[in-house]
Amino acid sequence: MKLNKEITRRRTFGIISHPDAGKTTLTEKLLLFGGAIQEAGAVKSSKIKKGATSDFMEIERQRGISVATSVLGFEYKEIKINILDTPGHKDFAEDTFRTLTAVDSVIVVIDVAKGVEEQTEKLVEVCRMRKIPMIVFINKLDREGKDAFELLDEIEQKLNLKVTPLSFPIGMGYDFKGIYNIWEKNVNLFTGDPRKDIEETIEIADLENPELDELIGAEAADNLREELELTEGVYPEFNRLDYVNGDLQPVFFGSALNNFGVRELLDCFVDIAPSPLPKMSDVREVKPTEDEFTGFVFKIHANMDPKHRDRLAFVKIVSGKFERNQPYLHVRQGKKLKFSSPNAFFAEKKQIVDEMFPGDIVGLHDTGNFKIGDTLTQGEKLNYRGIPNFSPEHFRYINNADPMKSKQLNKGISQLMDEGVAQLFTLDLNGRKIIGTVGALQYEVIQYRLEHEYGAKCSYENINVHKACWVESEDEKSEEYKEFKRVKSKYLAKDKQNQVVFLADSAFSLQMTQQKYPSIKFHFTSEF
Ligand code: G4P
Repeated sequence: MKLNKEITRRRTFGIISHPDAGKTTLTEKLLLFGGAIQEAGAVKSSKIKKGATSDFMEIERQRGISVATSVLGFEYKEIKINILDTPGHKDFAEDTFRTLTAVDSVIVVIDVAKGVEEQTEKLVEVCRMRKIPMIVFINKLDREGKDAFELLDEIEQKLNLKVTPLSFPIGMGYDFKGIYNIWEKNVNLFTGDPRKDIEETIEIADLENPELDELIGAEAADNLREELELTEGVYPEFNRLDYVNGDLQPVFFGSALNNFGVRELLDCFVDIAPSPLPKMSDVREVKPTEDEFTGFVFKIHANMDPKHRDRLAFVKIVSGKFERNQPYLHVRQGKKLKFSSPNAFFAEKKQIVDEMFPGDIVGLHDTGNFKIGDTLTQGEKLNYRGIPNFSPEHFRYINNADPMKSKQLNKGISQLMDEGVAQLFTLDLNGRKIIGTVGALQYEVIQYRLEHEYGAKCSYENINVHKACWVESEDEKSEEYKEFKRVKSKYLAKDKQNQVVFLADSAFSLQMTQQKYPSIKFHFTSEF
């Protein structure tokens, strides 16, 4: 019974946005409501500041911050909320994709002036394909921006979503008067005076109530009535099932910086956002309410202190209760492990705990057993799937720049790849190692960390690769497959799981190869 109760009171989600839309500010305000922090400014921005590419100390500093903000847990109205941090910087997009496998819902933050931006499009697409429930928060209403209807249109078209507003702005920028909360049927007035409580909530259940005219002026009141009538005609009525199934996205307006419209968002979120959902494994669907513990690793963070080289593996609990000092099966390695100091995450600290429940993230100290995607169970042999590698965008040979340290280099590369910093491909032809990354920034991170954490030195060399494709053939003994392997031997490599990868040097050669060998499948992700 206790398990059920704990599951229903959990909400595990991520906030996604294009950098600068206000993700950090919103996170901080949500924590303030939960009483998890006492003052604004307590959550440091984990974004990589512009120009940080050559500033290694900055990268380290950011890494430190990103450990601290990886999971922010707090309680609000007896609901246990876990916010999973998703880096906004596009070079770390893959970290964000992986984190999205561990959330049960997301909040999408959009800047009212900039509208839908590139990074938002990419991240929302991933959520849409996985049918993750999404709430949209349009931020910075205290500034001049796009018209509300225009924005809702843009969201529907660019993000391919079906939206319905649950709040509506009254004016904007200089004329911003507040929002009408469609969900709670009240008006929140924006006083704009930071010395006072910025928001005043007044119940206006009936829009025809003349009090509305007094509050915001007759003209604004008439406008609002018209606009709300229009929204009723154009947008579907909110329906929780559609939202939870990923078919309808409610929209809120507000200003995170002014802490305006944030409480409304949070109140609605705890009401409608789903508690932990069942998850598909390679053998069956697992329900959170099952007695036996299962979970999977979605993130690994190396210790910041080079003297203690252990790492922290972040495990999302899918089912059952996780208990300290219990033996759990590491399915890939087929061995049992016990964890004497599992960490739970709170807003500003982590703490050793005895038990945790589905939806929670447990941090496990690891000396090199885990890699991203690994499954832990109470004994059942099942694997959670769905954390594929995507084809990297950049490729370079990695060379050993200090022959005395080749062991350290290999260990370092192997561990950094397990952490998911980049992907390693080994050429069939000559065994040379190629590092593939999503962004150019990772090469500097790898070089810096190899030197500082493993005492190894590396150098890079350019290589012309357009895309990495995972190769699949129904019949590996067929003449066609044999010919492909012979003719293309120069371009074939193995990934870290020993899967065959074709490194196409141009879009044209990829297309030609696909045409020439029709029985072979070329996949752009490692999971197919
Ligand atoms: P991010 O995590 O999505 O990258 O965004 P972040 O919260 O860091 O916000 C980006 C900038 O937008 C910050 O200003 C922040 O103060 C501002 N901002 C956030 N919400 C609002 C809002 O509702 N209204 C207005 N007017 N601004 C908002 P900055 O100058 O880049 O940084 P800072 O020096 O204030 O930290």
